[in-house]
Amino acid sequence: MIQVLDKRFRKLFSENEIQERIAKMAAEIKADLGDKSPLFIAVLNGAFIFAADLMRAMDFPCEITFVKQSSYQGMDSSGKITQLIGLDRDIKDRHVVIIEDIVDSGLTMYHLRDQLLQQNPASLRIACCTFKPDALKCPLKLDYVGFEVSKLFLVGYGLDYDGYGRQYKDIYVLAE
Ligand code: IMP
Ligand code: MG
Repeated sequence: MIQVLDKRFRKLFSENEIQERIAKMAAEIKADLGDKSPLFIAVLNGAFIFAADLMRAMDFPCEITFVKQSSYQGMDSSGKITQLIGLDRDIKDRHVVIIEDIVDSGLTMYHLRDQLLQQNPASLRIACCTFKPDALKCPLKLDYVGFEVSKLFLVGYGLDYDGYGRQYKDIYVLAE
């Protein structure tokens, strides 16, 4: 058990399980894109640890860059109020893989995917460390999924509770 701010969390996936899953995911990505010099786009802040481990499991030519979704005034049809910032690379005709820590309602990823597709990449895939299928609120195809989890709140391995708890090597779930 760990304590993050006012809440207690218990271990759900160990560092070993996570690293084993990442090795398999890297092999899947290599089979699909190993000869295509893919560009990974990691979504800050949460994906920084997962992205670092996934990138280090790649033994073929690839690049990485980082983006952030920042809030702005206004709303689009999905109800999201975000804007993509930090994309410093031309993704036209590139094979792109978005790296995300967690897909919950899916709205963040749906919106990001839409924004990136407007720039005409050769292909666009999504890799996420954790996915809550029962929480999904939009049609979203995830190409590489680390762990499927139920609608519970997770911390660790980049995931935070109010900004805290990102540094743990394992993934923890809220203890009821
Ligand atoms: P979405 O609902 O799929 O748009 O997820 C939005 C964001 O909520 C994610 O990128 C995370 O930053 C955060 N989030 C969703 N579920 C969790 C969780 O269980 N722990 C920590 N952050 C979460
Ligand atoms: Mg996030």
